[in-house]
Amino acid sequence: MPTSHFAGREKVTTLTLKAKKMRGEPITMLTAYDYPTALALDHAAIDSILVGDSLGMVVLGYETTLSVTMDDMLHHCKAVARGARIAHLIGDMPFMSYQVSTAEAVRNAGRFLQEAGMDAVKLEGGRDVAPAIEAIVAAGIPVMGHLGLIPQSIRKLGGWKVQATSAASARGMMEDAHVLENAGCYAVILEAIPDRVAELITQRLHIPVIGIGAGAHCDGQVLVSNDLLGSFDRFTPRFAKKYADLRAVMEQAFLAYVDDVVARRFPAPEHSYHINDEEFEALLLDLRMKPRNWQVI
Ligand code: KIV
Repeated sequence: MPTSHFAGREKVTTLTLKAKKMRGEPITMLTAYDYPTALALDHAAIDSILVGDSLGMVVLGYETTLSVTMDDMLHHCKAVARGARIAHLIGDMPFMSYQVSTAEAVRNAGRFLQEAGMDAVKLEGGRDVAPAIEAIVAAGIPVMGHLGLIPQSIRKLGGWKVQATSAASARGMMEDAHVLENAGCYAVILEAIPDRVAELITQRLHIPVIGIGAGAHCDGQVLVSNDLLGSFDRFTPRFAKKYADLRAVMEQAFLAYVDDVVARRFPAPEHSYHINDEEFEALLLDLRMKPRNWQVI
C-alpha cells in the first residue's frame, strides 16, 4: 500500500469531526461494505466511513433493511476495518439489535468495537432510543444518532417519504435532535428532511450534523456509495448524485468476457503460465507420449 496517501494524515476521531464543525469545514462520509471500497475511500481521504445497514438492500438484495442481522453487519464491518486505516469507522446497529433492552443494546454495540474494529456505532430514532444511547455511551462507545427518514421504521412511516415537512413534525424533530445530543451522541445524521429544517438543527446542535437529502447547510454529507457509483439502480433517491455508471461498466466488461471466451480469444498466451520445452518433453516421455503429436507411444 503506497504510504503517500497517508503522509501527514492522522486517524480521524470523534474529536476531529467536532473540530471540523467548529472550524466550519465540511465533513465527508460515504458508506462501504467491503475491503476494496474501504481502501479506495481511505485513499480518497474521506473523513468517515459508515458500514450502513443499507448493506441489506444494495449488497445483499433485500427489499428493506429490516432483514439485516448482527452477523451480516459484523462480517462486513470486519472487511471494511481491514481496508481503512485513517477514516473514522461507524458500524450501523441493525433492526432489533438495540430496541429490546438496554443490556442487549450495550452488548451488541460493544461487538462492533471489540470484534469488528469499528470506532463508533450508529442507531436510528429519537427520544424512544435515548435510554439505549445513554447506556451505550456510558460503556465508552461513541454513538451517532439518525433522524428523519429512518429505514428501520419504514413500516411505521408508511413508505420512503420526506420527513419533518409540517411545522409540528419539524418541531418534534428539533426536540429529538436535542434529546440525542443530551443523551451523549457525538454526531447525528439527518435523512430526507427539508433543507431549512436541517439548517436550523445544524445551527442549534453543538455536535456535527451529517445530512443525506437534508440540503447543503449540514456540517457534513453522507451518501450510499453504490448510489454515487451507479452500481445499484433498483431505487435511487432524488438526493443521490450519480458520479459514475458502474453498473453499465460492469455489464460491458462481463459481456466482453463472455464474447471472448465463446470466441476462444481468452485466455491469450499472456494470460497463461508456460512450462519450458525441456520439462514438457520430459513429462510427455514420462507419460509415454510422443512429444510432437501427443500420441501415446
Ligand atoms: O444504512 C445506511 O447506509 C445509512 C445511511 C443512508 C445514512 O443509514
